[in-house]
Amino acid sequence: MAKLITSAESVLTESDVTPEKLFLSRRKFLRQSLYGGSAIALASYYPTIAWASLPASAEHKLQNLKRTVTLDEPMNSFEDITSYNNFYELGSSKDDPKQHASALSTDNWSIQIEGECNKPGTYTLEDILKPHSFEERIYRLRCVEAWSMVIPWLGFPLSDLLKRFEPTSQAKYVAFETLYDKNDPLPGQTRSSIKWPYREGLRMDEAMHPLTFMATGLYGKPLPNQNGAPIRLVVPWKYGFKSIKSIVKIRFSKTQPKTSWNMLAPKEYGFYSNVNPKVSHPRWSQARERRIGELFKRKTLMYNGYEQEVAHLYKDLNLKKHY
Ligand code: MTE
Repeated sequence: MAKLITSAESVLTESDVTPEKLFLSRRKFLRQSLYGGSAIALASYYPTIAWASLPASAEHKLQNLKRTVTLDEPMNSFEDITSYNNFYELGSSKDDPKQHASALSTDNWSIQIEGECNKPGTYTLEDILKPHSFEERIYRLRCVEAWSMVIPWLGFPLSDLLKRFEPTSQAKYVAFETLYDKNDPLPGQTRSSIKWPYREGLRMDEAMHPLTFMATGLYGKPLPNQNGAPIRLVVPWKYGFKSIKSIVKIRFSKTQPKTSWNMLAPKEYGFYSNVNPKVSHPRWSQARERRIGELFKRKTLMYNGYEQEVAHLYKDLNLKKHY
């Protein structure tokens, strides 16, 4: 039987190459960092997956999927990742998003590009996805509520997308919005706790950082609605609420944009919101976290474990002040 050699210490047989077996086997994780040299191609990694909700142009790219960033920690199961969610548009309990997932329609999706760039306009999902190569990245996701998961995302770097719109030198920040139709709100948008639409933002250098990712799938499948279909942001060193789901608008701006949780409770949720075990939330400690599926709490890592890659972005900030 042919062997697919994926690293010096892990050899998979063809029969191992099914997403579930592959992902749940900790020993077989590739040890390759973002900056660690050439990406390893896993031949025909997800050859038979049909991306019904994505344009046909996206599908063939999965044939040469590369895992470019990984972790030596077990991944959460597909079930955990897709049934324990925060997506307030679909309800405020952890099981609401899955239960109300069908209320979100991703048909005819488009993203409006605005502000300080040379190529503003309305781009269909197909326009957005077409030029990009998909890659897989296994990231920790640390929620500000002190739980975490390890998730194998599919997608492409946000920087590759933003460059296409040619941001001007005036673009200092990038703002994102999730869908909101006040005449046809999603089930959770009838409550006024959050001022809809859900908004998030990054400084331009954060947005262009190689770890900042646009996810269109997970576990080799298109993103389930409850995880932010058809396209969402993933910023692994920040608390999870920065990773805005189901994006319909991206705006380049000169000034720091308003963000949903900061508008709601500015003393509790800052614009930066980098994972920091030393700075408590006003109502709970951030020193430890509950990895979903584990019995004992883990220590929270500075910048969620991505300190080496991102600390330089914040050398001029008083991190306590900019919580
Ligand atoms: N994006 C939107 N539009 N609405 C939300 O309620 N919740 C955020 C973030 N993105 C949220 C959102 C929070 S609080 C977290 S922790 C993550 O999504 C959770 O992502 P997950 O459900 O895929 O784990």
